Amino acid sequence: MLEVKDLRLWYGDRGILKGISFYLMEGEVLCLVGESGSGKSSILLSIMGLLPENAKISGSIKFQGKELVGLSERKYRSIRGRHISMVFQEPSAYLDPLFKIGTQIEEAYRAHFKGGEVKRIVLETLKKVGIRDGERVYNSYSHQLSGGLRQRVCIAIATVCNPKIVLADEPTTALDVSLQSRILRLFRDMKEEGKSVILVTHDFGVVAEVADRVIVLKDGEIVEEGNTFDIFDNPRHPYTQELLRAI
Ligand SMILES: Nc1ncnc2c1ncn2[C@@H]1O[C@H](COP(=O)(O)OP(=O)(O)OP(=O)(O)O)[C@@H](O)[C@H]1O
Ligand SMILES: [Mg+2]
Repeated sequence: MLEVKDLRLWYGDRGILKGISFYLMEGEVLCLVGESGSGKSSILLSIMGLLPENAKISGSIKFQGKELVGLSERKYRSIRGRHISMVFQEPSAYLDPLFKIGTQIEEAYRAHFKGGEVKRIVLETLKKVGIRDGERVYNSYSHQLSGGLRQRVCIAIATVCNPKIVLADEPTTALDVSLQSRILRLFRDMKEEGKSVILVTHDFGVVAEVADRVIVLKDGEIVEEGNTFDIFDNPRHPYTQELLRAI
């Protein structure tokens, strides 16, 4: 699905990602873990082509064999949201305070599809992310919702077009345990459908529950990579051991 090779990223002249290489298979959940500032969000933003103006990038990111690095904004727009989508780390910064939730999810859908029973599709998507009173949420503004609801709305926006890859940046941090497991179930369902997920998390409980493979990141470099069982049973890098001890 995705192949990243020697990805390097600078903000100004500060090197952030120092030669990252990994792949993502069809139907796989890959977890990215690592301390704050290690570059997890930067990797996801690089894949999405959403880096800030001061960023410089080199290396290769291939989506189903197609190079994304250097792709024009116009071409990126046909992929973003439709084939690869992202759940951002801060849902409240991402949602627009001026538009109703329903309108925002519909907009995400209409950016790629014409016609269809949009409202029904939106309500269905809200249900999938564990929102029972979909009609109310549909007609609400972002500030009228709890943090957990907002986060689920962001997951709905990211999944409404049924993308092949979802990049999720700490999507369960604002959620209580039962909602968290609901969202994790959603990712597992996606996996069953042959979709792939990259999940950024601090929570090794989350890793244990959904990850097929884990990448451990430190200061912009991959320090350990392996399947989930191996990492838990036999963490090789001292940093991974430390992370596991910390829980
Ligand atoms: N727009 C930016 N301009 C300059 N530096 C940035 C920018 N965005 C991030 N950085 C820096 O890049 C480094 C990596 O940041 P990034 O957000 O990718 O880390 P992270 O692993 O996602 O951390 P966290 O777990 O706190 O979300 C940090 O040192 C951060 O300060
Ligand atoms: Mg981050």
